[in-house]
Amino acid sequence: MSKRIFDISVERFEALPVTEKTPYLMQADGVPYHTLFAQQFGHDLLGRLELLANEIRTIAKTRTGTEFLRSQVAHKRAMLYFSQPSSRTFLSFASACQILGVSTGEVRDTSISSEFKGESREDSVRTFSSYFDMIIMRTPEKGLAEHMAWVLSNSERPIPIINAGSGQDQHPTQALLDIYTLLRSFERGGGLRDRTVLFCGDLLRGRTVRSLSYLLTNYPNIRQVFVAPGPLQVGEDVLAVLKAKSVAYELTDDFHAAIPHADAVYMTRIQDEWDKDKGESAKIDTSRFKFGLDELKLLPQRAVIMHPLPRRDEISTAVDSDPRAMYWRQMRNGMWIRTALIAMTFGCEKRIHEYFRHNC
Ligand code: NCD
Repeated sequence: MSKRIFDISVERFEALPVTEKTPYLMQADGVPYHTLFAQQFGHDLLGRLELLANEIRTIAKTRTGTEFLRSQVAHKRAMLYFSQPSSRTFLSFASACQILGVSTGEVRDTSISSEFKGESREDSVRTFSSYFDMIIMRTPEKGLAEHMAWVLSNSERPIPIINAGSGQDQHPTQALLDIYTLLRSFERGGGLRDRTVLFCGDLLRGRTVRSLSYLLTNYPNIRQVFVAPGPLQVGEDVLAVLKAKSVAYELTDDFHAAIPHADAVYMTRIQDEWDKDKGESAKIDTSRFKFGLDELKLLPQRAVIMHPLPRRDEISTAVDSDPRAMYWRQMRNGMWIRTALIAMTFGCEKRIHEYFRHNC
């Protein structure tokens, strides 16, 4: 059920627990207006997105299909506002916009925008809303995207915001592509149910882990295993959600013992850009939390290896040619699921279904 964001003050909105914020972010037909948190996506909505992404990737195979897609949102413009480093997320959003005909503008380096002259983030984002119809934003600050969502919704030119990564907190569209990858990987083997998903690496500061762990709770009997060195083990907030939803989970630092039971291994990079003291991550022994040929031998035949990327040395390149290495396909899935999300946000879901029904 959608609630009206202009009926609540920004202070009250920001003080709500995430699950109580989400109704303010949805459109009447159950699709997101603003996409800020993984908590906005339940099982049915994830299924709708999966279907739409599958149809879009089939439609995009022909020239006429591509032209149809490109005409869908040709009247809209999107701003890519990335004040934190990004390659894949930025490019896949830019590509998603191109697929749908959305023109884009971008600010990636705030040192050459007016923020450098002392303009507040709030004023910058309001400025974008004068010229654009959507803001896709990545910021180092937790909470900025939701703050801006409230501000924009209460301005004379409300436009949707998509969170493309907010600090250490959330990365909802990465979780969407991760789920989409898992759904596709297990399509033929009984679907995404009764599985063990193993997370490994920097689980404390990796925002992709928090968002994906939440989305997995939408699927029946998915056990979550968190493998990390003590100081980087997953946070209490993630575990509190799992406890509240009675999801089975395990914390361990024994990677080798856990691998043979995994259906998916989700590797992550050490997020040392968040070190409070420079070099503190380097002091942690992470040598047992890497995936190489020895780990590959322990992995069940039908399991998949995932990584949000970029990787450093936590997955050996020797693993890349194994059919279970899913991370490159996972990355490309990001473009399709983001296309589906933007299409949905702008109300194109039905038209795409109809085109698919008649032409594919
Ligand atoms: C991730 C991120 O930015 O959180 N990257 C991405 O979006 N694919 C993971 C990371 O940087 O380690």
